[in-house]
Amino acid sequence: MAPKTALPHSRNGVAPRKRSPEPRLSIQAPELQAFGTLRDLPISLPSKARSGSCRLLNEILADTMVLYAMYKKHHWLVAGPTFYQLHLLFDKHADEQLELVDLLAERVQSLGGIAVGDPRQAAELTSIERPPDGAEEVSVMLDRTLRAHETILTKVRRAIKATEESEDWGTNDLLMSDVLRRHELQVWFLAEHVVDLPLVGA
Ligand SMILES: [Fe+2]
Repeated sequence: MAPKTALPHSRNGVAPRKRSPEPRLSIQAPELQAFGTLRDLPISLPSKARSGSCRLLNEILADTMVLYAMYKKHHWLVAGPTFYQLHLLFDKHADEQLELVDLLAERVQSLGGIAVGDPRQAAELTSIERPPDGAEEVSVMLDRTLRAHETILTKVRRAIKATEESEDWGTNDLLMSDVLRRHELQVWFLAEHVVDLPLVGA
């Protein structure tokens, strides 16, 4: 007679959940961690510093999600003689802002917080003014985008100072090296398009 195979069991003696090939659908459970709360992660940073950074990062994250969407909208709706170069530039800037969205969100998670994820929550938190839903002239698009950058840059500079005071160097470095410099560079590229210079002639 063949020896019986022992049933697998966990170390603490609890019987394992019966396995099934069927997908488990319609699963519902209360959320694990509420927005605005902190988990304890062993990163040797006091919870006061971590929660302060999460709040600042989430505000910047919400604005960055809105700026990303604004760039895509302008990428689609731009018109006129500068269509091709701005169509490409707006898309490049959108891609770069999307990278920042990820960096900011993952920093919030690294600190034990909850990152803003749903665009409807971002819309509630952002301080970037909502544009009309239709098409605007190129100069208005550029001006609107420059103002959105400055709104974010004001918050970023404030957060750099706050994270220096709280000694959250990881967030401080992210804001300075990745976020601040990326925005400053994008502002330069946009601002050069609103300099009123003729193509030929003096
Ligand atoms: Fe496209």
